[in-house]
Amino acid sequence: MNHNLTTLHPYPFAKMATLLANSTPAHNHSEIKLGIGEPKHEPPAFVLDVLRENLDKIGQYPTTNGLFELRQTIAHWLEKRFFLNHLDPHSQILPVMGTREAIFSLVQAVVDHPQTELSEATTNQPASTKPAQPPIIVMPNPFYQIYEGAAILAQATPYFMPCTIDNDFKGNYRAVPKDVWTRTQLLFVCSPNNPTGSVMTMDDWEYLLRLSDQYSFIIASDECYSELYFDSAPIGLLQACAALGRHDFKNCVVFHSLSKRSNLPGLRSGFVAGDANILQPYLQYRTYQGCAMPIPHQLASIAAWEDEKHVAHNRALYQEKFALWMSELGELLDLRMPEAGFYFWIKVPEQFKGDDEIFVKALYEQANIHALAGRYLSREVNGENPGQGYVRIALVASVDESREAISRIRKLLNA
Ligand SMILES: Cc1ncc(COP(=O)(O)O)c(C=O)c1O
Repeated sequence: MNHNLTTLHPYPFAKMATLLANSTPAHNHSEIKLGIGEPKHEPPAFVLDVLRENLDKIGQYPTTNGLFELRQTIAHWLEKRFFLNHLDPHSQILPVMGTREAIFSLVQAVVDHPQTELSEATTNQPASTKPAQPPIIVMPNPFYQIYEGAAILAQATPYFMPCTIDNDFKGNYRAVPKDVWTRTQLLFVCSPNNPTGSVMTMDDWEYLLRLSDQYSFIIASDECYSELYFDSAPIGLLQACAALGRHDFKNCVVFHSLSKRSNLPGLRSGFVAGDANILQPYLQYRTYQGCAMPIPHQLASIAAWEDEKHVAHNRALYQEKFALWMSELGELLDLRMPEAGFYFWIKVPEQFKGDDEIFVKALYEQANIHALAGRYLSREVNGENPGQGYVRIALVASVDESREAISRIRKLLNA
C-alpha cells in the first residue's frame, strides 16, 4: 500500500464519533444535527423533475468534459455573477462530480516533483538525480480536510496558515516566509471560508496574485459557499483577475458547487473554471481517473445553474436563521456573524473552560445537539492549534429545529 495513506488524519466526524463513543445523548430530546455541513433545505423541485425526465439517458456513457450545453450554461453563470467578459466553454470550464473529488484530483494532477541534477563532481559517483525538497501546498488552518489529504497523497508538504481573530480569520499571507513561497506549487484559498466565514477582499486577491506571479504557484480558490451571503456577493478569484485585466486567469482556478447553492449535495455536481493551461492537462488526467458526470445529472445541473430564484430563497432562509440565533443567543454566546456561508465559528464560553471537546460533549449529552469541535478541523503548529477553543455550528437544520436548538442551548448556558 501507499505508505502515505497511514499519515492521513481520520476525518473530523470520525474524531467526533470517538469523542462521543461513551456518551449518552439527552434522552428527553430529539437529535438535532448541526455538526455536519449537509444542507437540509428542500432541493428545487424543478431540478428533480429534469433528473427524473432524463433517467433513460443513463444508458449512455457521459464524456469527461461533459455536455457542451452544461459548460455553456456555467460560462454564462460565471460571466454574469462575477462580471467576466467571456469564458470559453471549450477550454476554461470542466464539470466535476462535486468539488470534493476535484479539489483532491487537481492536486494529484498538478503537483510535480522536480529532480535536482547532481553532477559527477559533486557526488563522486556517476551523474544522477536526487529529489529536491518536496513541494509545498499552502492552506488555511482550520481547513476543509481534503486540502491536507490531497497534499499528503501527492507527496507534497502542507503548510498551515493560521486563521485567527488577529487576521480576521483569513490567514496572514504576509507572514508566510519566502522560502515557503519558493517551494509552493499551489495555494488553497477558501472564500467564503469553512469554518470561519471570512471572505477575501479585492486587496487580498491582488496581493495573492502578485505572489503567484512572483513564485509561479497556482491559486486554487474553493468558492462553494459563494452564493450564501448576507448583504453583498463575495468577490471571486476570477472576478478579481478580470478586474485586473488578467483575462487568461493565469495560474488561477476556482471550484463551484450545486451542493450548498442549490441544496443538491447528492447530485454531485460542480465545476472547475479558470486557466486553460491547467484545465486542459487536468481534463486528460480526469479521463484516466474516470469520473464523468451522468447525463441526467448534467441536464439537471443546467436547470439549477440557470435559475437564481431558488438560490435567493435559500439565502433568505439562512438569513432568517442567522438573525434568530444572533437575537436569541447573541448575549449568552460569543456569536460573530460570518461574512458569508452557513457556519457559526464560536469561541467556547468560559463555563466550559473554553474547551471545544467539553462543550460539544455537553451539547450532546445535555441537549442532544451535534456540533463539531474546532480542533478537529485544524492542526497544531508551533504549539498552537487555531481551532482549539472554538466550535463549528452549521445552521443547516430547519427554522423550527433552530428555534428548538436555541432554546436548549439557552437552558444549557443558564444551568
Ligand atoms: C470548503 C468546502 N469545499 C468543498 C466541499 C465539497 O462540496 P461538494 O463536493 O459537495 O461540492 C465542502 C463540503 O462540505 C466544503 O465545506
